[in-house]
Amino acid sequence: MTAVKINEKFLDAELIASANALQGDAVEHLAALKNKDCNGAEFTGWWDYPQHSGFALEQEIQNYIRDLDINYDLVLVIGIGGSYLGTRAVTEALLHSYQGLVKSHQPLVAFAGHHISETQLIEVIELMDKRLPIINVISKSGTTTEPGVAFRILRTYLETRFGKEEATRRIVCTTDGKSGALRQLVQEEGYKSFSIPDDVGGRFSVLTAVGLVPLALLKLDTKALLEGASSIFQELSRSSKDHPVLRYATLRSAAYEQGKSVEIMATNNPKLAYIVEWWKQLFGESEGKEGKGLFPAGLVYTTDLHSLGQYVQEGKRNFVETFLSFENDRPRRNGVEQQLRVPAMAQKLDGLGHLEGRLINEINDAAMSGTMIAHADGGVPSLALKLPVLDEYHLGALFAFFESACAVSGAMLGVNPYDQPGVEAYKKNLFALTGKPGTEALRAKLKERMAH
Ligand code: PA5
Repeated sequence: MTAVKINEKFLDAELIASANALQGDAVEHLAALKNKDCNGAEFTGWWDYPQHSGFALEQEIQNYIRDLDINYDLVLVIGIGGSYLGTRAVTEALLHSYQGLVKSHQPLVAFAGHHISETQLIEVIELMDKRLPIINVISKSGTTTEPGVAFRILRTYLETRFGKEEATRRIVCTTDGKSGALRQLVQEEGYKSFSIPDDVGGRFSVLTAVGLVPLALLKLDTKALLEGASSIFQELSRSSKDHPVLRYATLRSAAYEQGKSVEIMATNNPKLAYIVEWWKQLFGESEGKEGKGLFPAGLVYTTDLHSLGQYVQEGKRNFVETFLSFENDRPRRNGVEQQLRVPAMAQKLDGLGHLEGRLINEINDAAMSGTMIAHADGGVPSLALKLPVLDEYHLGALFAFFESACAVSGAMLGVNPYDQPGVEAYKKNLFALTGKPGTEALRAKLKERMAH
């Protein structure tokens, strides 16, 4: 039974009919993907990655961790975009929100190199001072400014604190297998390294060493992550016609064809906020090109119902909404599922007496259903994606689900889902404005524009 269920109950008949009409198209694009006969086929190595490489790699990573000759209680992940969002999606979803402050058998995780904030880097150094860190720097190109700057600073910190030799043992690099600046540094400095496959782009790379190394260092169940992903790839390999992956792709494509310009991914659990961030990057970079694509936006309910909820209910009617939730997202402590009920109180001043004795999750479910119906009534096509349990297995399934749906949906849109030419524009200007040799002419032009 597939891990991701779609609820279409609150979609109008017209959208459903349009999606039905697109099904044949989606089936053909999936077949082209499987046969490596699609636009951007050279970047489809993510397809069925667990089976063809992932499980073997996972074993290799576990062996590396078993043989590590350092103690660590902090995993510092340096990377940006596809080189960090998948890892963060899993850690935010599964690790304790206050990991550093509660007793845990798992190390603490921190992230750097995903922005250019001086304050955040200073805070990371202050955290490292209190801990025994290991750094996993992840960059396919090795020349991306944000992780490059962070790695310079943080490896200097390690060398100053631990000396060169131990610092080297506290660094693991994930980068291109053969070329690139970071690969060269690995060779010069003798850092332990893992390779990012040539045929997997950043935003499709969470199930490769990009996600597996840091998540395994954090003692998360990376094998289960791959097993969950594999279940989706296997289902799609066998028979795909009615698979929810294709249904999601056709529904969002139909909404786009009907003139919608935004897809809101809404979740009812703040711990899923980074799943939504990962999804935003996946669909935004894959489809947002040539003047096309649904703009992927994210909201966390019920928090955002008290801010953007008004707009969603009554603002411009240009979006479709997808609700993402897990039937059971309760945390387990020592193997025991935790739950909370609203306590009874003598005073009923808050008017919430009807909630006494009720489970918090039950109230959250009611809020999600009520919101979905309200938004549908307000003219927002609303569909829901639901998975059974919030754990590594189902997160793996969700990654494979969205990657496959994105590949099909991008192909239906008529774009190459695997390139990102638009990302270069800001990089060129940043290089010019920071004085990179060879960019003098552009720098002069930008300075002139900034002066007026
Ligand atoms: O999806 C992508 O390809 C991008 O988001 C990259 O992952 C991101 O730009 C980081 O690139 P790199 O890994 O080369 O540092």
